[in-house]
Amino acid sequence: MNENILRTFKVTKRFGGIIALQDVSINVPKESIVMLIGPNGSGKTTLINVISGQYKPDSGKIYVYDKDITGLSPHKIYKMGISRTFQIPLPFRKLTVLENLLVVARNVEGEKITSSLFKRKKWIKDEEELAEKAMEILEIINLDHLWDNEAGNLSGGQMKLLEIGRALMSDPEIILMDEPVAGVNPKLANEIMEHVLALRDEYSISFLIVEHRLDIVLKYVDIVYAMHNGRVIAVDSPDKIISHPAVAAAYLGG
Ligand SMILES: Nc1ncnc2c1ncn2[C@@H]1O[C@H](COP(=O)(O)OP(=O)(O)O)[C@@H](O)[C@H]1O
Ligand SMILES: [Mg+2]
Repeated sequence: MNENILRTFKVTKRFGGIIALQDVSINVPKESIVMLIGPNGSGKTTLINVISGQYKPDSGKIYVYDKDITGLSPHKIYKMGISRTFQIPLPFRKLTVLENLLVVARNVEGEKITSSLFKRKKWIKDEEELAEKAMEILEIINLDHLWDNEAGNLSGGQMKLLEIGRALMSDPEIILMDEPVAGVNPKLANEIMEHVLALRDEYSISFLIVEHRLDIVLKYVDIVYAMHNGRVIAVDSPDKIISHPAVAAAYLGG
């Protein structure tokens, strides 16, 4: 197996008396698609939030390759090539599809307020290059024909694709996705997962995906971690994970 691009080691996170994560250790090998499953409240979203720096773990470690990133700010973690999408997409609804990608890029660079002509020219060139990059990304995810549509007019599935496009603007090595196909019709859901496969195979991007729709997503992934009550209860290949008694019991028990 490839080296691990992302690793958590015994990560624990509490919210008051609730133990959302207990000693969670997972590996995401380079160029792989890893899936997290588990009933509601298992800790899946919390794990994504801890990895991306939204929450600091109470204990445990998070590594990118061999670098310890535990407790770094979301911005620093993002700059290290870890991008994410959200369970509920929140595009800037009044901006166009293209502008939604450009806004992300500008946030990455920070606003450059300058007055000299030279710098202004450079700024224009940067903006042009960013727009080109954004259009290339829109082509990859088949949203290029909608580039000047207001994001608020996209379908739910197209907004999920736009989320992926926004995540791609930072040239990530890994994308953390929280429920990328929730509420999306099966045809578009499969299309989204086909894009994920292509991004892995053509751009060597790894994925950590949280998703309830096992029927659609399991067949696209390489490794599955099952969680329950904040713990990892099984890890296996997608065809075997469901036959673990603990996994079946977690789902039946709710
Ligand atoms: N910000 C928070 N404050 C308090 N409790 C939280 C917070 N986020 C998550 N939790 C709790 O942590 C547990 C795990 O939640 P979550 O990670 O959202 O689960 P999942 O994504 O698997 O449905 C739940 O009991 C949830 O109520
Ligand atoms: Mg969740």
